[in-house]
Amino acid sequence: MYNTRTKIKTLLSSDQAHFTTTLMGWVRSFRNNQFIALNDGSTNNNLQVVVELGMLDETTQKRISVGACIKATGEVIPSMGKGQKIELKATSIEILGDCDPESFPIQPKKHSLEFLRENAHLRFRTNTFGAVFRVRHALAFAVHQFFNEKGFVYMHTPVITASDAEGAGEMFKVTTLPMDGTAPRNEDGSINYKEDFFGRGTNLTVSGQLEGELAAMAFSEIYTFGPTFRAENSNTTRHLAEFWMIEPEMAFYDLEDNANLAEEFIKYVIQYVTVHNAEDLAFLAARLEEEEKSLPQDKRSPMSLMDKLQFVINNDFERVTYTQAIDILRESNHNKKKKFQYPIDQWGVDLQSEHERYLVEKHFQKPVILTNYPAAIKAFYMRQDDDCAPDRQTVSAMDILAPGIGEIVGGSQREERYDKLTQRMKEMHIPEEDLWWYLDTRRFGACVHAGFGLGFERLVQFVTGMANIRDVIAFPRYPGSAEF
Ligand code: 4AD
Ligand code: MG
Repeated sequence: MYNTRTKIKTLLSSDQAHFTTTLMGWVRSFRNNQFIALNDGSTNNNLQVVVELGMLDETTQKRISVGACIKATGEVIPSMGKGQKIELKATSIEILGDCDPESFPIQPKKHSLEFLRENAHLRFRTNTFGAVFRVRHALAFAVHQFFNEKGFVYMHTPVITASDAEGAGEMFKVTTLPMDGTAPRNEDGSINYKEDFFGRGTNLTVSGQLEGELAAMAFSEIYTFGPTFRAENSNTTRHLAEFWMIEPEMAFYDLEDNANLAEEFIKYVIQYVTVHNAEDLAFLAARLEEEEKSLPQDKRSPMSLMDKLQFVINNDFERVTYTQAIDILRESNHNKKKKFQYPIDQWGVDLQSEHERYLVEKHFQKPVILTNYPAAIKAFYMRQDDDCAPDRQTVSAMDILAPGIGEIVGGSQREERYDKLTQRMKEMHIPEEDLWWYLDTRRFGACVHAGFGLGFERLVQFVTGMANIRDVIAFPRYPGSAEF
């Protein structure tokens, strides 16, 4: 048996001493040919391994360099050093993997996030990314725990689909047809996808919602948690071409029930990490504070990371309708002084991220659930509100906006009325033949239902305080980049 080591986190959390053990990990630093700072990824805290002078031959000593992988056996003893209660007094050191100090990119100094993104294969070995990815893990675990406790069924919806749930276009094609011009053609010259692998054109999914709705019409409460893909050419700190989305879908929920669940869910997963990942969050909070020191006062976060998370857990989200939000925005000094790039002049316009941020960061200063958007700017499946003012048809949509992030959740009550749904599809030129299976649920035991999608990376951004979404997913996919 090879794996006979103790994890550093386990050792540090017990604080016991005077026994022999083995550690394995990567060298963070080696001082005075005596003190190895060893890290195994279980925590950001290194364990000090003390090598007595003269214990190692010169060759082995040289091989203990930053980044090298080693096995250290010895006695755990109380430490005299600052900031640590215990250390390992080595009796043997074995080099498991050498690391050339000249060419190893991760040095014991501050690297820029840009540099680390170019070295994403090695960036897990820094304190920042160690903390980010342990928090990401804990959030994912908390997502499953939350829904499991509530009796939701976890559905794996397909990654390859023939439908475009959002009606947004912007999809990655999936095909096995040759790209060299020899693909079979229709008479009009277009590519004949009937000859393709699936006998039809297919894409990577943009959302598991439509399939999720089918399952909710049997299990009553389900959720998905999987990768989704969007081929939008958005080069922002909030967009990825491949991101993970959590999509619960519930029978017998209206818009208000939906908003209640989303708010409870967000608070639950944040609460989970504040309890289970306190050390990593404290590190990330300090990192953020340090980073923001170089910014002018008005560009810094108004609260520390920890205070922000506690604030979200302890306060109700603000709930306002789109119509109320437009009034607030239109009457704002910001709008009157023409400080918006897109001025708000009339009901019906789509909200840009500058407007969302104004509402959340300036006006309400807390997360906001915006509801009842104009039908014209939302997807076909959202339930049409009854009793709307003339020319102001709205739908039971909801977006949740978070400070510093903007939209973190998009969802709605679904249109369960067959006639209203097919009418809306006609208006939006969505062919009924393609979605016959979706429409079937409205024919066979339809009911009031609702759901939402939460962008997992935006949640991780919010919780970790990382400014760029490319730094909260292991190997980000965005326009021009699919390295690693
Ligand atoms: O608002 P969206 O497009 O909604 C849907 O896909 C619905 N089918 C969800 C549902 O009702 N089941 O996306 C949902 C969330 C957004 O609020 C945002 O957090 C995230 O997914 N998101 C992205 N995250 C990273 N990169 C992108 N390109 C994203 N696009 C959406
Ligand atoms: Mg949206």
